[in-house]
Amino acid sequence: MNGRQTAIVTGGAQGIGKGITARLLAAGWGVAVADADAEAGAEIEREFDAPERMLFAPTDVADEGAVRACVDAAIDRFGRLDGLVNNAGIARPTRVPVETLLLADWNRMIAVNLTGCFLMAKHCVPHLRRTHGAIVNVASTRALQSEANTEPYSASKGGIVALSHALAMSLGPDIRVNCVSPGWIDTRPWQKSARRATEALRPEDHAQHPVGRVGTPDDVAATVEFLLSDAASFVTGQNWLIDGGMTRKMIYLE
Ligand code: NAI
Repeated sequence: MNGRQTAIVTGGAQGIGKGITARLLAAGWGVAVADADAEAGAEIEREFDAPERMLFAPTDVADEGAVRACVDAAIDRFGRLDGLVNNAGIARPTRVPVETLLLADWNRMIAVNLTGCFLMAKHCVPHLRRTHGAIVNVASTRALQSEANTEPYSASKGGIVALSHALAMSLGPDIRVNCVSPGWIDTRPWQKSARRATEALRPEDHAQHPVGRVGTPDDVAATVEFLLSDAASFVTGQNWLIDGGMTRKMIYLE
């Protein structure tokens, strides 16, 4: 197995992360999927059917012991690590007024979305230094703009943007670190079967985007693949917006 480029993708069993896993596998990478959902992990093992090139490692990215075990399992299997994609994230509970937001809910969102990126980077960096690898963190356009009552999610994503440029300064020139910020991505076809919804989006959902459509997991995966590759070797510390132009749109009411 030595020689093949290998990445760890957190939250890689569903949604955007599954799109990233699929794209990297198609490009010939070995992929260790670190995801907390064992049912989703079993489904992608069957669906991708690539036991030589894909490892499912059940992992809670907020738990340092689990993160260490996941990185050890990936190295045991593949012998090297070239990329880390910190994609795992939670968005619930959504829209809770700050006066009633529970500290436990705030702490869990920060722990999974932000601390998880730190823990994965901490344990992957020794391996990534050896290969001159790259890290891509998945933030959100909500790092830059907000709806009401979304403080923990927005704060966690703003933290990821800042963590990314800080790591880029600390780890260069050995390791490049970038961040992607997706807008509205329709992940429903990419959920495990028990969670998959099929009703169509509305025409206005697509039409409000300057590009004329809602995004797909592969829209994000394409940029992630680029940022992991040598084609991006002069790019580090950046936040890439993948939002169909929505953050460039004036939205004052007429
Ligand atoms: P999703 O819920 O479809 O998939 C997330 C995956 O992460 C799931 O497989 C889940 O089991 C896993 N996960 C959750 N907690 C975990 C933990 N503690 N440890 C390991 N794995 C865990 O979510 P989606 O929509 O694909 O989001 C992926 C990333 O993209 C998240 O960071 C999210 O904040 C971000 N994002 C998503 C957008 C969207 O429109 N879907 C927009 C902007 C950002």
